[in-house]
Amino acid sequence: MTPNSPAEMPVANSKASPETPDSPTLIIGAAGFIGGFVADASLATGRTTYILVRPGPVTPSKAKLIGAFRDKGAIILHGKMDDRELMEKILKEHKIEVVISAVGGDSILGQLNLVDAISSVGTVKRFLPSEFGHDIDRADPVEPGLTMYNNKRKIRRMVEESGIPYTYICCNSIAAWPYHDNTHPSEVLPPLDEFHIYGDGSVKAYFVDGTDIGKLTMKAIDDARTLNKLVHFRPACNCLNMNELASLWEKIIGRTLPRVTVTENDLLTAAQVLWHLSPMTFSSRDVRLISPLMGQTKLK
Ligand SMILES: NC(=O)c1ccc[n+]([C@@H]2O[C@H](COP(=O)([O-])OP(=O)(O)OC[C@H]3O[C@@H](n4cnc5c(N)ncnc54)[C@H](OP(=O)(O)O)[C@@H]3O)[C@@H](O)[C@H]2O)c1
Repeated sequence: MTPNSPAEMPVANSKASPETPDSPTLIIGAAGFIGGFVADASLATGRTTYILVRPGPVTPSKAKLIGAFRDKGAIILHGKMDDRELMEKILKEHKIEVVISAVGGDSILGQLNLVDAISSVGTVKRFLPSEFGHDIDRADPVEPGLTMYNNKRKIRRMVEESGIPYTYICCNSIAAWPYHDNTHPSEVLPPLDEFHIYGDGSVKAYFVDGTDIGKLTMKAIDDARTLNKLVHFRPACNCLNMNELASLWEKIIGRTLPRVTVTENDLLTAAQVLWHLSPMTFSSRDVRLISPLMGQTKLK
């Protein structure tokens, strides 16, 4: 855990107190990638779990997912996080004590209205904004990661200025092969033809399983020591570089694959191309994996 520097340390909301596992909890983005792990973990603790689902048509797979959450005890609410009045109503009516946001990279600034609503209601004992990555105040990514980091930084500063009790989850990278063009890499297999190794493949990063991200997030909420702190998930055994990841995968599939080097310039060019095509797709993690000079050194 890392406390903020004294200059950044917010004054805790006087109503904040250690949470109990039955604190009514609202999860925003449960139908998403990270939010799904968190919602499952919340429901497994037996706490009252509300899930906010955006109104509108849903795909059959999403309907199935929401139905599965309902079967596990989730209470489904409909609405948009950026609807301030609705969020205030929900927080008051359901006496929500914990709010976890896991909205995606393109919805980060929508949390500005959510923070406003939490601040005006004043009864939320813990807010987890959508972070679930690296420590955004210490990393120094290139675009397109930079825009998302700046948006997340804006939310942090607003939370701190509002005096809302918070915890920032820095879970590092999801356990998966770090495909540079896929923000949900654990949904696909590691390569079966050749590995694209960034640089010499020696820069280490922490890779954390999604299920563990969910469970540890819920543990952090119920721990008074995490109030107004950043919580880093850094399992020592999961600190690996790309060559080590490749060797692990080769052991599983029982054969070796060619390793093709992707230079720093190649990766930066790919980032620019993807940035123009789809600004939020390229993962800032990928550039960190290539060069200690581009952020990794600042991730302590
Ligand atoms: N550490 C890692 O390796 C890693 C990997 C991926 C993501 N992340 C981080 O995890 C967080 C979540 O990203 P993700 O990729 O899991 O997101 P995602 O899959 O895109 O899911 C986002 C969810 O938020 C919901 N949502 C978006 N805007 C909303 C609004 N205004 N009101 C209500 N719900 C809204 C979406 O609803 P719909 O279902 O209606 O679209 C969706 O269910 C982000 O901060 C991201 O940077 C980290």
